[in-house]
Amino acid sequence: MQFDLVVVGAGAAGLFCAGLAGQRGLRVLVIDHAEKVAEKIRISGGGRCNFTNRDAGPANFISNNPAFCRSALARYSSQDFIALVQKHGIAFHEKHKGQLFCDDSAEQIIRMLLDECEAGGVQRWQPCTVADVRRMETATDAEPAFELDTSRGRVLTARLVIATGGLSIPKIGASDWGLRLAQRFGHAIVEPRPALVPLTFDAQQWAPFSALSGLSLPVVVSTGKGKEKGRFLEDLLFTHRGLSGPAILQISSFWQEGQALQIDLAPEQNLQEQLMGAKSDSKRQLGNVLAALFPQRLAQAWIERLGLNSQRSMPECKDKDLQNLAQQLQAWQLTPNGSEGWRKAEVMRGGVDTRELSSQTMESKRVPGLFFIGEVMDVTGWLGGYNFQWAWASAAACANSL
Ligand code: FDA
Repeated sequence: MQFDLVVVGAGAAGLFCAGLAGQRGLRVLVIDHAEKVAEKIRISGGGRCNFTNRDAGPANFISNNPAFCRSALARYSSQDFIALVQKHGIAFHEKHKGQLFCDDSAEQIIRMLLDECEAGGVQRWQPCTVADVRRMETATDAEPAFELDTSRGRVLTARLVIATGGLSIPKIGASDWGLRLAQRFGHAIVEPRPALVPLTFDAQQWAPFSALSGLSLPVVVSTGKGKEKGRFLEDLLFTHRGLSGPAILQISSFWQEGQALQIDLAPEQNLQEQLMGAKSDSKRQLGNVLAALFPQRLAQAWIERLGLNSQRSMPECKDKDLQNLAQQLQAWQLTPNGSEGWRKAEVMRGGVDTRELSSQTMESKRVPGLFFIGEVMDVTGWLGGYNFQWAWASAAACANSL
């Protein structure tokens, strides 16, 4: 079998690229080793798929080569994807900070991508595995460049797109196949790490906080320095093993092993001023004052942690203790011992080093005709629809160059 384009990976980026290329008149084959296409779209956004972010821009992405994503994002913006969603009659709503979700189901986005593929006459093989890929010595512009040994036979193609995604959630089809292939063709890999993932703590260190499991509150969390610094105002969730919630998922993408997190549990407040201001009120006790500012369980946990007495009347509290309490609540420092790993991570940080790829077309600078799109590359979005926007934008940059 011979094609103009073979895409390995029928996920967000792969299906979108295949549909666009097919509609440009190319004979396209998409191969996926999973039974079902686009499993990550299906489970995304709690089943409603946060398919883009209205405000997506280069600042919302992490990469060793931060300028790389600029061109593709500018040429295929969230507005372009919104127009496609509207063309397919999919109803959606904005939930939080520009995040757009389907009103009904993520399945609608999958259906839309499959319809686009059908409109482009794209062939789909799945489940189908690729055992080997060879670049043919004789390759010219007019001749096929790659030979693939697949579980459905030998395939020849002029161009090959790798859209095998990241390493998170192995049980629904994630694999390192794309990364290994990139390496085999001489590409450097930026070390893959789980990102957008809950963070864990040493059991002993976490013991005083595990009773807070299930509690959620808005915080400002930060870590790192200079260009590597991350800072987010979002909700934090206490769990049995550590911390989760949007604030922690966001900061996990910036967190490096051994680094501390700084958490302000009372963002946009001056707690020291509030506590000191309450000192003259002889009718109030420390526990009540704190419980008016924080969830009761959290207030009690911090009072106990610092060995204070919640029933002490405010005038009896020492200035030093109140200052320390405010400091501990507004600049809580703690160092995770790890993360929940690939099993729970929403995305992979790292991947194929983009310095060896064209930012205009996603083509390898080493191997003509070989392209990488989507999460397999070292471009990682924040939480909030940015990762899908990168899948769409990188796929469009590639397909529109063919
Ligand atoms: P994607 O993972 O979509 O597709 C890769 C495809 O390649 C898969 O179909 C896989 O089976 C196939 N494949 C892998 N190895 C192969 C091999 N060796 N041979 C053949 N096929 C192979 N993002 C966002 O913007 N908004 C959101 O709401 C969410 N929510 C979310 C929830 C959860 C639980 C997860 C795990 C992830 C998200 N994401 C997200 C992230 C988003 O799903 C992800 O970034 C994109 O799906 C990446 O698109 P890709 O096409 O690059 O990979």
